[in-house]
Amino acid sequence: MSFFINGNIFLYIVFILVHNGNGEECTKVKSDQYYSCEGRNLTYVPTSIPLFIEMLDFSFNFLPSLQKSTFPRLDYLKRLDLTRCHIQYIADDAFHNVRNVTTLILTGNPVSYIGPDGLNSLLKLHRLVLVNTGLHSLNIQLENLTELQELKAGTNNIQSIALPPFMINFNNFCLLDLHVNNISTIKLNQTSVLRGMRANITLILSRNPILHIEPGAFQGIYLEELNILGAFVSSAAKRDGLKALRGLKVGRLSIGNYNFKKTNAAANYLDGLCSMIFKEIYLLRIEKFVSEDMYTCLINATKITLNHCYITAMQHVPFPNLKELYIANSEEPIELEIYHLHSLEKLVVVENRPTLLKGLNYMPNLQHVDLSRNNLVFSQFDCCTQYFIGMPNLRSLNLSDNQNMYLSKNPFAGFSSIEILDVRFTRLGFLSRQFELFKNLKNLKYLDISYSSSNILRTMTFGHLSHLQVLKASGNHFQEDALNYVFVNLTALEILEISDCGILNIEARAFKGLTRLKHLFLSQNKLVVLDFVTHPYVKSLTMLNVERNTISSISNYVLQNLPKNLSVLDLSFNPFDCSCSQIAFISWITSHQHLIQQSNNLFCRQLTQGSKIRVLDYDIESCEHIRRLTIVLSICAVTVLSLGAVLTYKFQFYLRYGCILLRGYKVSRLQEFSYDAFVIYSSKDESWVMNELLENLENGIPPIQLCLHVRDFEVGKTITSNIIDEGIMGSRKIIVVVSQHFIESSWCRFEFEVAQSWLVMQGNANIIIIILEDVEEEKTKKVFGLHKHLKKNTYLKWSGNPLSKMRFWIRLRKAITTGN
Ligand SMILES: *[C@@H]1O[C@H](CO)[C@@H](O)[C@H](O)[C@H]1NC(C)=O
Ligand SMILES: *[C@@H]1O[C@H](CO)[C@@H](O)[C@H](O)[C@H]1NC(C)=O
Ligand SMILES: *[C@@H]1O[C@H](CO)[C@@H](O)[C@H](O)[C@H]1NC(C)=O
Ligand SMILES: *[C@@H]1O[C@H](CO)[C@@H](O)[C@H](O)[C@H]1NC(C)=O
Ligand SMILES: *[C@@H]1O[C@H](CO)[C@@H](O)[C@H](O)[C@H]1NC(C)=O
Ligand SMILES: *[C@@H]1O[C@H](CO)[C@@H](O)[C@H](O)[C@H]1NC(C)=O
Ligand SMILES: *[C@@H]1O[C@H](CO)[C@@H](O)[C@H](O)[C@H]1NC(C)=O
Ligand SMILES: *[C@@H]1O[C@H](CO)[C@@H](O)[C@H](O)[C@H]1NC(C)=O
Repeated sequence: MSFFINGNIFLYIVFILVHNGNGEECTKVKSDQYYSCEGRNLTYVPTSIPLFIEMLDFSFNFLPSLQKSTFPRLDYLKRLDLTRCHIQYIADDAFHNVRNVTTLILTGNPVSYIGPDGLNSLLKLHRLVLVNTGLHSLNIQLENLTELQELKAGTNNIQSIALPPFMINFNNFCLLDLHVNNISTIKLNQTSVLRGMRANITLILSRNPILHIEPGAFQGIYLEELNILGAFVSSAAKRDGLKALRGLKVGRLSIGNYNFKKTNAAANYLDGLCSMIFKEIYLLRIEKFVSEDMYTCLINATKITLNHCYITAMQHVPFPNLKELYIANSEEPIELEIYHLHSLEKLVVVENRPTLLKGLNYMPNLQHVDLSRNNLVFSQFDCCTQYFIGMPNLRSLNLSDNQNMYLSKNPFAGFSSIEILDVRFTRLGFLSRQFELFKNLKNLKYLDISYSSSNILRTMTFGHLSHLQVLKASGNHFQEDALNYVFVNLTALEILEISDCGILNIEARAFKGLTRLKHLFLSQNKLVVLDFVTHPYVKSLTMLNVERNTISSISNYVLQNLPKNLSVLDLSFNPFDCSCSQIAFISWITSHQHLIQQSNNLFCRQLTQGSKIRVLDYDIESCEHIRRLTIVLSICAVTVLSLGAVLTYKFQFYLRYGCILLRGYKVSRLQEFSYDAFVIYSSKDESWVMNELLENLENGIPPIQLCLHVRDFEVGKTITSNIIDEGIMGSRKIIVVVSQHFIESSWCRFEFEVAQSWLVMQGNANIIIIILEDVEEEKTKKVFGLHKHLKKNTYLKWSGNPLSKMRFWIRLRKAITTGN
C-alpha cells in the first residue's frame, strides 16, 4: 500500500519535472529581478516573464533566428544570457525590445549573420561576450556602442588584433580578451587603434600561436595588463617576441606556460623583459632556472610572483621597489634568504618543496608573512624571536601546515604588533611547561593553534590576550580541568573553536567572562549533555555547533532555555535516541528546523545494521498509537477487574449457590433437619409472620419448629450461607409468604429461586405457598416459578375472617407435617 502511495508521489514529481521541462514557466532565481529559463529547449521567449526583470538567463534553448518579435518588451533588462541557443541569424531590430541591456552573452552560438544595426541598437552595452561564435575578425558592426567596456572574443578564429577604427572613441573600453584565437603575427599597423585609445586596457592573448611580432608594434602603448601565457609557438619566438615588445608600458605582465615544455629554452629568452616597463610580473612555469641574470630584468618590479618555477637564490639581487613577493609550488627545494628586501610589505612563500628559512631580519615594512605549507622546521633557536627580528609592523604571521615548531619560554617576545597568528597543523613542541605562551601578543585578534598536537595546560593561559576575537584550538587536548580556566580573560572573544578535543563535559564556568562569545564550535567531541548553554555566561551565542558528539537527547529544560539569539544549532550526526520516550525532543526538532539548519543530517542511533533513519522521519504517530493503545488496554483491564468484582459481589449468592448445589450432591439424603419449615418472607410482612404464623404453628400442638432468618440465622455467617445452610438445607419444608412486598424484594425472590432449585434437585416439591394478599398476575410472573405454583392452585390463601383462618391453619399444619 505504502509503496503505491510512494510510487504515485514519485510519478507526480516526474510529471511536474517533465511539465516544467516543457518550459511554460521560467523560474525566479533568488530575487524577483532574476529569471532563468536555462536549458528548457524553448523556441520562444515566454510572455509570462515579468516586465520588470533585470536579469534573464535564456541559455541552452533554441532560437536560430533573432527577430524583432523574439523578445517581449523588457525595459529594465540589464543582463541577457543567450549562451548556446543555436543562434545563426541576428536581424537589425532583434534587440529592439531589450535595448537597455548592458551585458549581452552570445557564447557558443554559430552566428553567421548580424544585421548592421543588430548590435548597434544596444546603445548602453558595457559587456559583449562573443566567445566561441565562429568570429573571423574584430570587424564587428558596433560603432554606436560607445559605452562598451569589455569585448570577450576568445575561442574564435580571429587572426588579427586590429580593432575597428571607430573604437578609438570608446573611452571606457578596458578589456579585450582574445584567448585561443589564431593570431600568429602582430604588425605595427594593427595596434594603431589600441595605441590611440585613452583607457588602460587589459589585453589577453594567451594560447595564441604567435610566431612573429613586428618590433615596435607596442611602442608607446600603455596596457593595464598583458597576458601572453602560452602564447608563443616556440621558445625562440618568445625570445624574439618579448624583444619586439620594447617600449610597452604594462601594469601587470603574465608570461610562461600552462604546461611544462620539454624543449630546450633559447638562451637569454627573457632578456626582452628589460626593454619594457612593468610593475608587476607573474611568471608561470618558466622553462629554465630563474637565475640571477634573469632577475636583473625584474629588479624594478613592485610585485613578483613565481609559480611552478625553478628558482635559484635571490640574495644578491636588490629589488628596491619590491613590495610583494609570492613564491609558490617551486619545482626545487628553495633557500629563502631575503633579509635584504627592506621594502617588502608582503611575503607569501607557500606550498614549496622543502624550504630552508634562515630567518627574516630587519624588514621594517613587512606586514604580512605567509610561510604555510612548506614543511618548515623552526628549531634552530627559540622560535620565534630568532626567526623574525626587527619587524615592528608585522601584522599577520601564517606558519600553518609546516612540520615542527619548538617554542621556549617566551616565544613571541617582540611580536606585539601581530594581530593574526596561524600555526595550525604545525606541531608545536614545548621546551618548558610553565610559561605563558602568548604573553606578548597584546594586540592579537586571531589565533589558530588547531591540530598543533598541543596539550593545553591550566598554566598555559591565554590570559593576556584581551583583544582576541577568534580562537581556534580544535584538535588539541585539554589536560585535566584546564578547559575550565584557560579562557577566563578573553573578554573580547567572539568565535571559539574547540572541536575534536576529546571533551566529555563542559561546565558553564569555562565561558565565564566571555560575554561577547557568538560562535561556539564543539563538534567531534564526546559531549552527552548541553546543560552549559542555559547559563547566562553564554547568553550572546548565536551559533552553536555540536555535530558528531554523543548526544542522544536534549532535555526539555535545555531546549526551553537556549540563548535567546541562537539562530544556528548544528546537531548533525549525533546518535539520537528515537524512541517513544523522546517524543517531546523529536517534535521540538521537527518544529525548529529553521534553527537546526542541517536537520536532514540528524539520524537515529542504530542498534543494528541497516539503512539509517532520519530523526525527521521517525514516526511520532506510532508512539501516539502505542500510547493510546496502552491507555485503552489499561482502561479495559481496570474495567474488566472492577466489573468482575461488581459481578462477583452482585452474584455472590449465585456463586455461592452454585457451590452449594455441587456440595448438595455429596451430602446424604438422610440428613438431620433442624427445622420443620423455613419461612421465606419480606421483612415488611414480619409482623404477620411473628404474630400469626409463629403464634399458630410454634405454639400449637404439636409445635412446629420454624426457621426465621431474623431469629435463627447464625451471627457471623453471611446471609447467603445462612439461607442455604440453615434455612433451605436445615428445614424439611419451605413456606413462602407471597405479598406485594415479597414480589418487590430481590432478596425474597432470590431465596425462593434458590429453594426451588434445591428442592427440584432433591426430587421433591416441598414448597408451601401462602398468598398473604392478592398480587397481580403480571407481577407474579416476575418471580421465577411462582406463577406455575399459583396456576396449579397449590397454595394457601390467607383471609381475615375467623372461619377461613381456622381452615387455613389446619391445612397449613397438614401440609407441613405430612411427608412429601
Ligand atoms: C529541442 O527543440 C528542437 C526544436 O524544437 C528539437 O529539434 C530538439 O529535438 C529538442 N531537443 C530536446 C533535447 O528536446
Ligand atoms: C548609429 O549611429 C548612426 C550615426 O550616429 C545613426 O545614424 C544610427 O541610427 C545609429 N543606429 C542605431 C541602431 O541607433
Ligand atoms: C590559422 O591561420 C592560418 C593563417 O594565418 C591558417 O592557415 C589556418 O588555417 C588557421 N587555422 C585555423 C584553425 O583556422
Ligand atoms: C592608466 O594608467 C595611468 C598610468 O598608470 C594612470 O595614471 C591612469 O589613471 C590610468 N587610467 C585608467 C582609466 O585607469
Ligand atoms: C629600473 O629603474 C631604473 C630607474 O628608474 C632604470 O634606470 C633601470 O633601467 C630600470 N631597470 C629595468 C631592468 O627596468
Ligand atoms: C594560512 O595559510 C593557510 C594555508 O595556506 C590558509 O588556509 C589559511 O587561511 C591562512 N590563515 C589565515 C589566517 O589567513
Ligand atoms: C586576567 O587578567 C588580569 C588583569 O589583566 C590578570 O591579573 C590575571 O592574571 C589574568 N588571568 C590569567 C589567568 O591570566
Ligand atoms: C540579541 O540580539 C539583539 C539584536 O541583534 C541585541 O540587541 C541583543 O543585545 C542580543 N542579545 C544578547 C543577549 O546578546
